[in-house]
Amino acid sequence: MAILELGVLASGTGSNLQAILDAIAAGTLDAQVRIVVSNVREAPALQRAAKAGIATAVIPHAQFPNRSEFDAAIAQALDLAGAKWVVLAGFMRVLTPEFLKKFQRRVINIHPALLPAFPGVHAQKQAFEHGVKLAGCTVHFVDEGVDSGPIIAQCAVPVLDDDSADSLAKRILEQEHLLFVDVLRWLAADRIRWVEGLSGERPKIAIVPA
Ligand code: GRF
Repeated sequence: MAILELGVLASGTGSNLQAILDAIAAGTLDAQVRIVVSNVREAPALQRAAKAGIATAVIPHAQFPNRSEFDAAIAQALDLAGAKWVVLAGFMRVLTPEFLKKFQRRVINIHPALLPAFPGVHAQKQAFEHGVKLAGCTVHFVDEGVDSGPIIAQCAVPVLDDDSADSLAKRILEQEHLLFVDVLRWLAADRIRWVEGLSGERPKIAIVPA
């Protein structure tokens, strides 16, 4: 089977990127990161990529007149690098329908909440302030909405009585690193299937047993 050729988009710290790079280096994930693209020049994710010998591109969104042109520049960088799958690892921009059409069913995102609860920014804090007893994280395919695409996998993280928003976010992040790499392993093994809704309802995602 062809190796999973990933393009990672990241705007920040890049700890999820690091988890992916570590799994590849350890030989437990059959994938290649072909390029890491960031819209933020100072993003530590870029340094992590460079340290691992991976190509990087900085594409600052403010330099483009609109989202379509920004996304076209990202798509071009991904194409040139040979990335077939797009992994959003803390990428803080919403992708356009044109971009998603080009990489149809090939864009995945990680979100630090049990979707569909608490989409958008500061999800862990939203969940904590709401008083949920179970928080967590979700890996999903990306559609045109915000954190609204078909769910691939989720991991629940209990909220402890002495948690703060920060301590909860930290424990969620530990699970994100594991869940993201697990999902990429399923992709690499061609175990992820779209199950179309019979009468127009949302497609669902099934994982083929190993
Ligand atoms: C993670 O919490 C991820 O779920 C969210 O952004 C954060 C990125 O963290 N989308 P990092 O840059 O991977 O450390």
